[in-house]
Amino acid sequence: MNVHALAKAHHLDEQTTAFAGDVIEGLSQHPKRLSPKYFYDAAGSELFEQITVLPEYYPTRTELGILRERAGEIAAVIPEGAALVEFGAGATTKVRLLLERCAFGAYVPVDISGDFIHAQAEVLSRDFPELAVYPVTADFTAPFALPDAVGAMPKVGFFPGSTLGNFEPHEASAFMRSAREILGPGAQMVIGVDLEKDERVLYDAYNDAAGVTARFNLNVMVRINRELGGNFDISGFTHRSIYNRERHRIEMHLISRKAQSVRVLGHTFSFRPGETIHTESSYKYSLDRFTALARGSGWSVRKSWTDAAGMFSVHVLVASE
Ligand code: AVJ
Repeated sequence: MNVHALAKAHHLDEQTTAFAGDVIEGLSQHPKRLSPKYFYDAAGSELFEQITVLPEYYPTRTELGILRERAGEIAAVIPEGAALVEFGAGATTKVRLLLERCAFGAYVPVDISGDFIHAQAEVLSRDFPELAVYPVTADFTAPFALPDAVGAMPKVGFFPGSTLGNFEPHEASAFMRSAREILGPGAQMVIGVDLEKDERVLYDAYNDAAGVTARFNLNVMVRINRELGGNFDISGFTHRSIYNRERHRIEMHLISRKAQSVRVLGHTFSFRPGETIHTESSYKYSLDRFTALARGSGWSVRKSWTDAAGMFSVHVLVASE
């Protein structure tokens, strides 16, 4: 049965059907893989928030430090009355730092989860009563239209958190091109990018001692069991992150502890002992490699900042002519 027939038989909605298709396709590959975009159900989003405050997980607090320290300098290069378009929406802590310092005309959070951004928009409107907030429910990796109300405003994209790191290099380039298309000529973009560093630091950040990252990774199986009626034995898998030096990326894996098979929507997937599912790549850039990526995708780097230790970077890009 193909996935559409299965979706019909199991009464799956549109989003769950897409999830089902991706899971069946990913687990049919060699090596098996799953997309990191499925980590973020309610439980996964909560676990990610816990990751951001772990002692080993440096990216969130380092980026916040840079934004706090440089908000004035960022404000100085942003035109008054611009529309701030955030690609993907999580905690509002980072965007608040920009909203407090820059005179934006509107804030446009874009996310696939409509419920989430509408709730978020409401909270922000309470704290910034003057700010016009226009949430857009869309997959930000595909083209979408900005609200008419911001048509005449200068545009500033916002893509913090090194979310860019989840894309394969060709996808990262495609995203940057698409963002330039959506934002239009003359746009700028504020983007946070995680940097290459000592392997031990990277390893610890993705294999934390408290095991929160392990629970975050394993949660995708919990989600498959719940939403797709899968029968993953969660205790039959272990979490491991490794640094792939040649490809400049952290890889997260779920490793089968034994020979076992798992059923999902009428499909059976067998695992050898030690066989892995590759669930995430988190690419790390050098300043040079990021600059080259931006240049090759229709942007030039106007300003860049890092923390004193050179762990994380924040950039202001300008759309090239
Ligand atoms: C949200 C993609 C930036 O790659 O560091 C955290 C996700 N995965 N710990 C990252 C994540 C494991 C995070 N990003």
